[in-house]
Amino acid sequence: MVDQQRSRIAVVGGRGKTGSAVCAALRVRGADAVALGRAELDELSAALRGCDAVYLIAPNLHPDEPAFVARLLRAAAAAHVRRVVYHSVSAPYAPAMPHHLGKAIAEDLVRRSGLDWSILQPCAYVENLLPGLRESSPRIAVAYDPDRLFGMIGLADVGAVAAEVLLDPAQIGATCELGGPRLVSVRDVVAAAERVLGTSVELVASSPEEWAAGPGARLATREREWLQAMFAYYDDFGLPTGSLAATAILGRPPRGLDEVLAAALG
Ligand SMILES: NC(=O)c1ccc[n+]([C@@H]2O[C@H](COP(=O)([O-])OP(=O)(O)OC[C@H]3O[C@@H](n4cnc5c(N)ncnc54)[C@H](OP(=O)(O)O)[C@@H]3O)[C@@H](O)[C@H]2O)c1
Repeated sequence: MVDQQRSRIAVVGGRGKTGSAVCAALRVRGADAVALGRAELDELSAALRGCDAVYLIAPNLHPDEPAFVARLLRAAAAAHVRRVVYHSVSAPYAPAMPHHLGKAIAEDLVRRSGLDWSILQPCAYVENLLPGLRESSPRIAVAYDPDRLFGMIGLADVGAVAAEVLLDPAQIGATCELGGPRLVSVRDVVAAAERVLGTSVELVASSPEEWAAGPGARLATREREWLQAMFAYYDDFGLPTGSLAATAILGRPPRGLDEVLAAALG
């Protein structure tokens, strides 16, 4: 067992939404979490020196995630950081979604890196739907079928699982899909938000094509196309994801919608 009091863990993307949850969970466990963002990545070897492990989160919709991951794996090896945990996604090998496919290719690089690796494959976070719920007239707007099923999981549980995996050598070689306690639809999230907020929540559902011609039109072409591809996949298949790995690692089921939303919305 790694000495958790003295473990120093670099978290690439550590100031983002995911990385903040991972850093917070590491600190709760007594580890020293070092958040690395764009500024620190210029001086990678210095940033990684003295770290026991690195948690690797690529930026959203990175144009070349395998190249981003390959550079970090090389830097980790050069800095003698043997332990790496890669933040992938549920169902990475989904060729219809370019950013998932980038993670599938990056997973292969991680497994062939020669380092002591683990891979986490989280489903969509419940928190993705929070911004509209904080408006004066709460709403959730999605560009896909609101009845499709997802294994949505709360970010605090994603962070807690990541910290456990980083600090437990028994997890070396593990690939863990991370879903919430049961499969839920966006309509279920609306119902949970209404219970938590005590008010009605508007559900606005459009098609991926309507989204691309509307709110998506202001995005750069590649980002719009990649997101439209993701919404089209969600529209057809959702993103079902199992909960067993998260339950086993946390020692309890992951938090459900009501609990995650209550914590976020007060
Ligand atoms: N949202 C979900 O439901 C979900 C589910 C599964 C997996 N994921 C994956 O989680 C990852 C990102 O999650 P997030 O929501 O935490 O993102 P985020 O809040 O946008 O944070 C991303 C971080 O990446 C850093 N960054 C941005 N551009 C960069 C660049 N060009 N080079 C290096 N670093 C850069 C930023 O660091 P600084 O600002 O400090 O420079 C930022 O802290 C993505 O890989 C995504 O696919 C998300």
